[in-house]
Amino acid sequence: MNVLAKAADLEADAPAGAFVQEVTSVQHYTDRLFRFRMTRPASFRFRSGEFVMIGLMIEGKPLYRAYSIASPSWDEELEFFSIKVPDGPLTQHLQKIQPGDAVLMKKKPTGTLVNDALIPGKRVYMFSTGTGIAPFASLIRDPDTYEKFDQVILTHTCREVAELKYGLDLVEETKNDPLIGEYAREKLVHYASVTREDYPFKGRITDLIENGKLFTDLGVPPLDPAIDRGMICGSMEMLRDTKALLEKAGLTEGANNKPAEFVVERAFVG
Ligand code: A2P
Repeated sequence: MNVLAKAADLEADAPAGAFVQEVTSVQHYTDRLFRFRMTRPASFRFRSGEFVMIGLMIEGKPLYRAYSIASPSWDEELEFFSIKVPDGPLTQHLQKIQPGDAVLMKKKPTGTLVNDALIPGKRVYMFSTGTGIAPFASLIRDPDTYEKFDQVILTHTCREVAELKYGLDLVEETKNDPLIGEYAREKLVHYASVTREDYPFKGRITDLIENGKLFTDLGVPPLDPAIDRGMICGSMEMLRDTKALLEKAGLTEGANNKPAEFVVERAFVG
């Protein structure tokens, strides 16, 4: 079944409450991961780190899933980083999109992984696994992040080395960016680890926090609620386990209406 339509053809029957946007580029990394960029509606505003509902028309009905916006809020396009699930209701189709195709986007962004939900601190850790790096791809390209923190540590853990490429390219591009490169070169640290292949840094981020290797490798003191802040994005299990370790270190969870020392992605739990 081909559910993909050209943006120009779908424009006239846009579902209520959704924008119809046009894919501008697609890059496949592995058989499980790809990214795409699309046009951004002129009226669409969001805070770096937020997510939005992305969808396609399937059998005449729109089907949406939550996607973190990976581009910074100043970018004229929108970027997303996605998994490909062979029989995933949305991603089995979304993984086939090409430039010119239509993608639906609901009009209201939301989310907890925003700078406003953290109280000021010295260092922010952005803990991610797999496509969980997406909201941080936005945040590490936002000048506000560097205004708020002296050091920004992005951790990314994947099963295989090839899955790290999106993050490695992202950090290199960010450090060379004319707008934020100067801040990123001074403050951004990328810590990439792999769990199912050989790599200089091996292991789940939870194990690396627990056994202290993360801090020794980075040359920083252990987690300290007085100065350290955290943001977590990954699978449900990873969110739960990483949150427990931050709480054990004395950090408390914050929200938009009650900023505190760390925040957890809430896209999966509605
Ligand atoms: P592992 O290979 O040991 O399962 P996935 O693609 O399944 O979301 O996994 C992405 C990365 O997250 C993998 O490296 C995986 O490690 C790791 N991971 C899975 N579950 C957890 C967890 N509960 N805590 C920390 N890391 C996890």
